[in-house]
Amino acid sequence: MDELSWQEVVAAISQASTLAELKDWRTRWVGKHGRITELMKGLSDLPPEERRRRGQELNQAREAILAALTQREQVLTDRAEERALEAERWDLTLPGREPDTGMLHPLTRVRRRIEDVLLRLGFSLAYGPQVESEWYNFEALNIPPNHPAREMQDSFFVDIPGLVLRTHTSPVQIRAMEQHQGRLPVKIIAPGLTYRRDDDATHVPMFQQVEGLVVDHGISVADLMGTLTVMVQELLGGSVRTRFRSSYFPFTEPSLEMDVTCAVCQGQGCRVCKETGWVEILGSGLVHPTVLRNGGYDPDQVSGFAFGMGIERIAMRLYGLDDLRLLYQNDLRFLRGFRHQGGLR
Ligand code: DAH
Repeated sequence: MDELSWQEVVAAISQASTLAELKDWRTRWVGKHGRITELMKGLSDLPPEERRRRGQELNQAREAILAALTQREQVLTDRAEERALEAERWDLTLPGREPDTGMLHPLTRVRRRIEDVLLRLGFSLAYGPQVESEWYNFEALNIPPNHPAREMQDSFFVDIPGLVLRTHTSPVQIRAMEQHQGRLPVKIIAPGLTYRRDDDATHVPMFQQVEGLVVDHGISVADLMGTLTVMVQELLGGSVRTRFRSSYFPFTEPSLEMDVTCAVCQGQGCRVCKETGWVEILGSGLVHPTVLRNGGYDPDQVSGFAFGMGIERIAMRLYGLDDLRLLYQNDLRFLRGFRHQGGLR
């Protein structure tokens, strides 16, 4: 067997390190045109004695090479399998991947928190349309046609005459009174979207308010101040200080605005609160007799108080934001910052 003896071939096969090498050995020695196969074809040219001896020798070599190939193949396949298993091994000590769960928008959380506080104080939820009639949005609330709030720069009007995008949640006061049909008490809150032609760091054209209305026998400014003080303390923490200032709204008489201590300077005075230590948080007052009448109630028999509060302002305070527009840009980098906020659902 010329260059290599079959023993040398067997030895080389048992050292082969790849299946490709084995295939090569097989073709070269025992394949269709392999060395041994060719030699076997030449046997018939030999004299009978010689042929027998040589035939046995070649057979022995062939068997030995085939056996070596099979054995080495097994070893190499086993090894490859082991390596694959090793590569696939699960590292149970790796930290888990946090699933990308959703969450409620910060404004939704704040709105729900305000609702929670007021529902616990005995209010029920009421709603009205966002496309509102001028009657409910203005007239019924004692806002006369020449009032600045009705001018083009404040309201979004729609194509149908007599309709506007509501500029506040106060129209729900009238709708709620109508729905109560004279029954007492009326004690509702109306959260919802409102619209004004405004757009800067502290105003967006679409924003949210919560309206409140209580109508019953003998409702006074004391009820208003007590209820709103408790509400604000529940919302902002018991240590917040509050004050009421007299103000003016067409739909209340008297009218009061409520201030809370500035969260930035804790009442010391700073740029945010214009050096006063106070920031306005809501408008309120005793329901104007005309408004009670427009809702179907007799101002000689009953009285009420109402308030209106901006939800974004509360959110800005709770989260320490200085630009309201962040809340409406749907930037996930901003919103994800609220994911682990405790306390707020
Ligand atoms: N509607 C007023 C506004 O949007 C807020 C307001 C003030 C609501 C006094 C009230 C209230 O119910 O009594 O600016």
